[in-house]
Amino acid sequence: MTETSPIVYLNGAFVPLADARISVLDRGFIYGDGVYEVVPVYQRQPFRMAQHLARLARSLDGVGMAHPMTDAQWMTTITELIARQPFADQAVYFQVTRGVAKRDHAFPKGVEPTVFMMSNPLVLPSQGQVERGVAVVTAEDNRWHRCDLKTTSLLGNVLMRQLAVEANAVETVMFRDGYLTEASASNVLAVIDGTVVAPPKDHLILPGITYDATLEVTRAAGVPLVVRPVTRAEAMAADELWLSSSTKEVLAITTVDGKPFGAGMPGPVFRKVYAAFQATKPH
Ligand code: PDD
Repeated sequence: MTETSPIVYLNGAFVPLADARISVLDRGFIYGDGVYEVVPVYQRQPFRMAQHLARLARSLDGVGMAHPMTDAQWMTTITELIARQPFADQAVYFQVTRGVAKRDHAFPKGVEPTVFMMSNPLVLPSQGQVERGVAVVTAEDNRWHRCDLKTTSLLGNVLMRQLAVEANAVETVMFRDGYLTEASASNVLAVIDGTVVAPPKDHLILPGITYDATLEVTRAAGVPLVVRPVTRAEAMAADELWLSSSTKEVLAITTVDGKPFGAGMPGPVFRKVYAAFQATKPH
């Protein structure tokens, strides 16, 4: 019996994953020269698609790549990809690389970008993780200084995430020069004296779509909110710390570097904002 291969999109065609092929000279493979997005899909409805497309455009511009499709074309193609999957809740991944060319660092001329999309089942945190929170470890942020671009060059993030895996934690929360930045694949928010404190969206963190969604529901719930840099000392002494991402939604941190954090349970501000966040998702 042959296993059915999920349908993916590659350069203009929908094909079984097993048949999707690119050249080994693709600059994504050789240099990690590409940008990407991950969009959560609830009941076949993408969440905040316009914001993900706007961030993709910003990433493409930031690395000097032409836009291979209009927003309308992205929408049509992603809608078809979603429809072709047998499951309703999905994580759609799409990436653009600079294309296939003889190895040379300089941008190649007259080359078509490679466009790839796939969709996997959306695996959200378990009920236990939502109710009890999750463990993180901390590390010095040693990535490059354009963390605002969502590029496929993720070795720095990969090495950071591995630190967490080796400590049985879900994420590595990073600090740069004494200030909180983000985690290996999520943003980090703090609650200090009842106020949600969010690190500013500068070049040292990814401007998270879930970060924005979380701040919006925080505001709407009447919880005090400020966007400002957070020192390591403040973060470590915060009442609550949260992770946010498209696949984690908003999640409380209850263990840091092997020790219980805060009350050791998700805090009251988290519970309020989590409930408000759930209410904004497509049903
Ligand atoms: N990661 N920071 C980093 C470094 C990330 O990789 C991500 C998302 C985020 C959160 O962004 P958003 O809320 O837009 O998902 C912050 C995705 C999920 C990934 O690479 O799989």
